[in-house]
Amino acid sequence: MAELDTATKRMDLKEQINKERLPKHVAIIMDGNGRWAKQRGKMRVYGHEQGVTSVRETAEAAAEIGVDYLTLFAFSTENWKRPQHEVEALMQLLVATINSETKTLQDNDIRLKAIGNLDKLDKKCYEELQQAINNTKDNKRMDMILALSYSARWDLTHATEQIARKVKNNELAPEEISQDTVSSHLATAPYPDPELLIRTSGEYRISNFLLWQIAYAELYFTPKLWPDFRKNDFYEAILNFQRRERRFGKISEQVANKEKGE
Ligand code: FPP
Repeated sequence: MAELDTATKRMDLKEQINKERLPKHVAIIMDGNGRWAKQRGKMRVYGHEQGVTSVRETAEAAAEIGVDYLTLFAFSTENWKRPQHEVEALMQLLVATINSETKTLQDNDIRLKAIGNLDKLDKKCYEELQQAINNTKDNKRMDMILALSYSARWDLTHATEQIARKVKNNELAPEEISQDTVSSHLATAPYPDPELLIRTSGEYRISNFLLWQIAYAELYFTPKLWPDFRKNDFYEAILNFQRRERRFGKISEQVANKEKGE
């Protein structure tokens, strides 16, 4: 009965979503795995393992409603500073998950991508990742982008270095540098900026994630810990996004007129 209720509620929420006003790109800071495990008297790694179900549910939910890009903050530059055993466990979990979830990606026509300082990943993890990226490269429904060994400051520093090199080699004049130049040198260059950023676990921080790219994103914070995050929670975030007025620095009337096509 409880299962039926959840399924009914999910249908209700999903059906309320306006398919014409979907965010094309949703980014998620998946937080709270450690606390979720601790609340149950378990090791932190158990929380990460349970977080995989949330990744699967969220990817399916996003693909089902028609989101084009889903970026997940799976491992930050700062996460390398965690205890060695947790870093190793996370790397192993990533490898195992990439393997076990490739079928979910294929079944849902999802293309896997990755951004970040991927050279820092251990060899096995890097190779499995590249293989899954290759195996899913022809899928078309949605891109799922894993941010691995990623931080916004790394991204911006790396982009600056590449731009500086072009200036040094006379391929680019300093006065030609525009916002588009910066965007096109970031790891996210192939993707539009996220319109919605979700963070779980009740923390109100961006934690060095996509700082440039979220300039105009709507921010959505939920107290749910990541291992508890399910399809309905994703739909709720989308519905919340759709209730907001996005002004991009303009005034309400201008936005309303644009929507009417005036
Ligand atoms: C943050 O929770 C979560 C992480 C650092 C890792 C996220 C990884 C997964 C969900 C597993 C696999 C994912 C993919 C995409 C294959 P935390 O450890 O910071 O939690 P806390 O704030 O409660 O300590």
